Amino acid sequence: DVKLDHPGGQLSIPVKPAVDGPAGIATGNLLKETGYVTYDPGFVNTAACSSGITYIDGDAGILRYRGYPIEQLAEKSSFLEVSYLLIYGELPTSAQLTEFDEWIRRHSLLHEEMRRFFDGFPRDAHPMAVLSSAVSAISTFYQDSLDPFDREHVEISTVRLMAKVPTIASYAYKKSIGQAMLYPDNSLGYVENFLRMTFGVPAEAYEVDPVVARVLDMLLVLHADHEQNCSTSTVRLVGSSQANLFASVSAGVNALFGPLHGGANQAVLEMLDEIRVSGGDVPGFVRRVKDKEPGVKLMGFGHRVYKNYDPRAAIVKQAAQDVLARMNKPDPLLDLAMQLEEIALADDYFVSRKLYPNVDFYTGLIYKAMGFPTKMFTVLFALGRLPGWIAQWREMISDPETKIGRPRQLYTGAAERDYVPV
Ligand code: MLT
Repeated sequence: DVKLDHPGGQLSIPVKPAVDGPAGIATGNLLKETGYVTYDPGFVNTAACSSGITYIDGDAGILRYRGYPIEQLAEKSSFLEVSYLLIYGELPTSAQLTEFDEWIRRHSLLHEEMRRFFDGFPRDAHPMAVLSSAVSAISTFYQDSLDPFDREHVEISTVRLMAKVPTIASYAYKKSIGQAMLYPDNSLGYVENFLRMTFGVPAEAYEVDPVVARVLDMLLVLHADHEQNCSTSTVRLVGSSQANLFASVSAGVNALFGPLHGGANQAVLEMLDEIRVSGGDVPGFVRRVKDKEPGVKLMGFGHRVYKNYDPRAAIVKQAAQDVLARMNKPDPLLDLAMQLEEIALADDYFVSRKLYPNVDFYTGLIYKAMGFPTKMFTVLFALGRLPGWIAQWREMISDPETKIGRPRQLYTGAAERDYVPV
């Protein structure tokens, strides 16, 4: 057994001896059936890794960043505070927060040449594809600070990335609607600046709605890290080859682009809209899900880790109700979502399969009420996940034990064959 210290005390993982070779199929089944975890740091990153950033107990529905419960952080901390916590390990003092914030404000502008980079994309380009390309392109402008092992390079890259991603994200959006881009206004806070660059129009005053800004800030906190999910492990894997921070995070953005990861809240909204269009029959929809009707899926339910309510979903649900009421924007889709949740959670079919709402179930409704088009939902997820990716990359790169990642393979192909020309 391997013994690890973790926030709940000592964790003991029964370790199966590694088995090699073409007997792979049998080995794979054995691993699945016994539920054993192979903790083998020799296969770092995608096979297994240790991390001190985010703790999840999927059975109990617990999520903590650096030991702090997500519920407390969502209520009491700003996104920049949480970013600092994830990246540097401690909540900032007010002087540290001011310094971090000011540093970020100073770096929010994009190089003028980089602005022209956006002109080359087709008008209907998905903002997520533009985001990943632009994040990767940052490394072409700052070639003098890309060394992952130089402390100063890492610090300035961290701040540049935190500062420039909101600008890139809003430019990607402006591009997609054919509107002129707005320069950042550094008198504004992180989220306010992003909202103004996204929804503001040149030469016109833009009033940031404080309710929208606070709720968006809180949603970014909820998305800031989630241990070794698909995009984060991609960032670590790419970074383990000693690729620079921008290249590694750009890879993470691409991993998040997929509908099973960051695109899931868009799928929830589409499902709810389909229910609405076909008459709002929620019990009928649930029946069709249970009958496994082709193409009918309950989106936003279930999670690879949570076998209980996703703690983020509970907070988002409350926020959705508050925001829609406060903004006076009732949405029939919210009623359908709540009905769907109520019916599903009273049904043994879903409960026995441990299918509870996850973070994606209610977020789309809030983004929609705020005026974001669905193709921006994943971009918002990326904006939130950014400090988590940075923190995980920094943790991985500063660990002297880190080796280049190499997922383990169980070979299932043909045994040796003689070459016979066809
Ligand atoms: C996330 O926040 O990254 C998603 O819930 C997916 C995951 O954790 O696997």
